[in-house]
Amino acid sequence: MTNTLQKLQDLEPSREEFQAAVLAGLRQAEKSLPCKFFYDAEGSRLFDRICELPEYYPTRTECRILREYAGGIAAGIGPGARLVEFGSGAGVKIRLLLSALKKPTAYVPVDISRLHLLAAASSLAKDFPHLAIAPICADYTLPFELPPHAGTQPDNTVGFFPGSTIGNFTPQEARAFLESARRLLGPGSSMVVGVDLRKDEAVLQRAYDDAAGVTAAFNLNLLRRINRELMGTFKLDQFVHRARWNDALGRMEMHLVSRCAQTVEIGRERFAFRKDEAIHTENSHKYTIAQFQDLAREAGYAPQNVWTDPDNLFSVHLVKDATPAA
Ligand code: AVI
Repeated sequence: MTNTLQKLQDLEPSREEFQAAVLAGLRQAEKSLPCKFFYDAEGSRLFDRICELPEYYPTRTECRILREYAGGIAAGIGPGARLVEFGSGAGVKIRLLLSALKKPTAYVPVDISRLHLLAAASSLAKDFPHLAIAPICADYTLPFELPPHAGTQPDNTVGFFPGSTIGNFTPQEARAFLESARRLLGPGSSMVVGVDLRKDEAVLQRAYDDAAGVTAAFNLNLLRRINRELMGTFKLDQFVHRARWNDALGRMEMHLVSRCAQTVEIGRERFAFRKDEAIHTENSHKYTIAQFQDLAREAGYAPQNVWTDPDNLFSVHLVKDATPAA
């Protein structure tokens, strides 16, 4: 068996970046923390558990769509594709796509969590021995470059952005991300994007506040990470997980609410919390199919096809670079 796993390109965010983002977020009048820092080793493990929860429909529904329509998606992509996955995580969904694709040449998983990324990449290398795998540990919202050796057919580069992670951006950020991904992937490239759809509020509420409390633990783990990595003094039992639907902005929001008036230290800085004051930790925007297609058009893509489940819970879009060749 050829060893196709290539050297890791390591751009993992530094402790300084984490610290700067946390302090900036907590200094604001309305405190917030960036959701990308959920994913340390424990956060990634908790997120994998969320994906298995009965209430959290997105993962299983998207997998069902990918399984059912893999042939159609692969036909839309064509042969010899080089795949770049933004936020590759456990690498489950890419297998569904890779198994259906005709002669994929390379796979570039990009993830912020180094250990998770390496484990998933080496397990994939065993199952797809002829695929060049070139992992990049990076925050994919920041600029990075594709390794030149990853793939031979640059005119069929395909971005894969599953899980409705696009929903964790504001619509403006999502547009900017799609646009920079289009530039990174190059002329004639495509994107396969998983997008969670608008639906009944009660279904969303259960999905983001599950009965077993795994989502609450995932949210609170961010405070544990701050304590460990930034010398924080958050008392985890003094904060409570809250999920709520924001109808005006079409998104689920997660917050951590202070149970009492308290002061928290991070290194030498002190942050005062009022009773019931919240830290806003995540947005998860939900789109209609038309809304997402408009967003993709604004980012320079032409929608090619969209696949959904029978209950219209989730959608998988194939969009193609529509900008004129330079
Ligand atoms: C990663 N992201 C798409 C998940 C979501 O649904 O927004 C993160 C998550 N937050 C709570 N549960 C899952």
